[in-house]
Amino acid sequence: MTTTPVLASTREELRAWRAQRPGRVAFVPTMGALHDGHASLMRTARKHADTVVVSVFVNPLQFAEGEDLDRYPRTLEADLEVCAAEGVDVVFAPSVEEVYPHGVRNQQGVTVDPGHLATILDGASRPGHFTGVLTVVAKLFGLVQPDVAVFGEKDYQQLALITRMAADLCLPVEVVGAPTVREDDGLAMSSRNRYLDPDQRRAAVALSRALRAAQERASYGVPAARWAAMSVLRAEPAVELDYLALTSPDLGEAPETGEGRILVAARVGTTRLIDNMQIFFDHLPQAGTPTGGSTTTERSS
Ligand code: PAJ
Repeated sequence: MTTTPVLASTREELRAWRAQRPGRVAFVPTMGALHDGHASLMRTARKHADTVVVSVFVNPLQFAEGEDLDRYPRTLEADLEVCAAEGVDVVFAPSVEEVYPHGVRNQQGVTVDPGHLATILDGASRPGHFTGVLTVVAKLFGLVQPDVAVFGEKDYQQLALITRMAADLCLPVEVVGAPTVREDDGLAMSSRNRYLDPDQRRAAVALSRALRAAQERASYGVPAARWAAMSVLRAEPAVELDYLALTSPDLGEAPETGEGRILVAARVGTTRLIDNMQIFFDHLPQAGTPTGGSTTTERSS
């Protein structure tokens, strides 16, 4: 279905449109440079509501000094075509001033404190990142007033934090997670993949291969799964590991048996990539298989 979405670029335009749409609204926040991963969220959103809203906003508050805010791809024309092909009703693409009328970093505006969960994993490497994410998502929820909001499992810690924010701040939004969409070779789709040159693109597949290797060894327990993933990552010199973590589904301690999560972050050249998968541990130690406690995170020095 191809329709031309309404393009709203100011709060007023969005508000005027929202007032005419009393039915159920599903919302997909994005930073643009849309790919099939984003499109799959739009399809999930459509299953939950008659009206689908997508935001396209590169949020400066979630980028630290020296990160890729300036080079982050901005491709609104192409993004509108993706939204049209997915039958999106409204695209909200505001300016920075529209979202941050008090300025971005002058401490004049109220921000969301994400709590302890934002101090681990990506939060440990990117201080302030999740404050920026939760603040903009809270603002966007206030502007769009969705019944349902869809986020990708690709950014698993982000999904966990937004789910927690909606619960802890009693926001009247149902947060829905959607599976990660991958390239044919397994690389998780990401707007940042376009930074990779051909050699880096080949190396980047080591992240998903490492996670799959861990899944295959997970019946031998947490340390064996970790070892399998680390072997794949160490064999690819172009991949500079930030962390490899094995956790419970809610990012706590990895269980000895049952469902868990394996998450990885690494730099390939100057590009930081993340990925994660579900994993099932089944502690069956065998001769020659490393065993031990379930320490969860390995960081490069
Ligand atoms: P962005 O990176 O553009 O991602 C927007 C949404 O698409 C997020 O929910 C993300 O998890 C999801 N997504 C990205 N790659 C995906 C893939 N390969 N498969 C499935 N879903 C995928 O995440 C952000 O923007 C921002 O932090 C945002 C939430 C918009 C706040 O600024």
